[in-house]
Amino acid sequence: KTIRAFAPATVANVSCGFDILGFAIDELGDQVEVSLSETPGLKVVKIEGDGGRLPYEAEKNTCTVAIQAMLDHLGFTKGMEISLYKGLPLGSGMGSSAASAAAALVAANALLGYPFDKKQLVNFAIEAERIACGAAHADNVAPSLLGGFVLIRDYEPLDVIKLPVPKGLYCTLLHPHLELNTSDSRSVLRTQISLKDSTIQSGNIAGLIAGLFQEDYNLISRSLKDVIAEPTRALLIPGFYELREAIQTIGALGSGISGSGPTIFTLSPSQAIAKEVGSAGKEVFKKIGLDVDVY
Ligand code: HSE
Repeated sequence: KTIRAFAPATVANVSCGFDILGFAIDELGDQVEVSLSETPGLKVVKIEGDGGRLPYEAEKNTCTVAIQAMLDHLGFTKGMEISLYKGLPLGSGMGSSAASAAAALVAANALLGYPFDKKQLVNFAIEAERIACGAAHADNVAPSLLGGFVLIRDYEPLDVIKLPVPKGLYCTLLHPHLELNTSDSRSVLRTQISLKDSTIQSGNIAGLIAGLFQEDYNLISRSLKDVIAEPTRALLIPGFYELREAIQTIGALGSGISGSGPTIFTLSPSQAIAKEVGSAGKEVFKKIGLDVDVY
């Protein structure tokens, strides 16, 4: 028996929620196929769509690291074969490594007759993030597994809360063609923040979450701000502030760095505005001479 699962791209942080907030994107994502094997251990047998860049070694691939964490928990000793079909670009800030891990876990969990629910799978998926970027953050894997907006209230132990998704909210992703490793863009973060910044950030997180519950677009818009990670990370993303400037009059709710970048996400209250953001973004990146993909 072979089981194939899909897991979506995600936008982590959502500006103010560094490491604690993320949401899933419709349609865009990775697929993983898992089957049982008589040979013990996990074996990656195929990887497509990565340009030959992802590792086949079971202790380095995010699919196998995540499944292994799950199997260790179960005491399962038989083998599995894994095929990965990448739909997401690497190092893009769209939760590429997380989507592979999430799809692998969903497929393996189904193959074993669903010993875990999806929230429990988050515990295993973060082990893959630890391998991929050195930090076991859950704000990509949790929304990739659970869908919608997700809050990680705490890490020890993990406390993952699903949030409502207001109707008619659209996201535009602009992916300039440059690659940023999450570990590199974590290394530019300040390790200390002022009491003032902490107060501003807390207000915005609370405001964003209240906005999601109340379907209050204006409140969501006012809250899409980040005084912690964005000021240093934006310097690594040419066009970031130019894009914000360019979409000011279009009617979008706000923009920010998707995860650790370089992808920039914008939330809009209609599909028409989301499309306009895409066109404006293409112009911005054309001017600075960078190729960009729009999703
Ligand atoms: N919260 C993580 C970070 C997301 O900002 O480093 C990485 O995609």
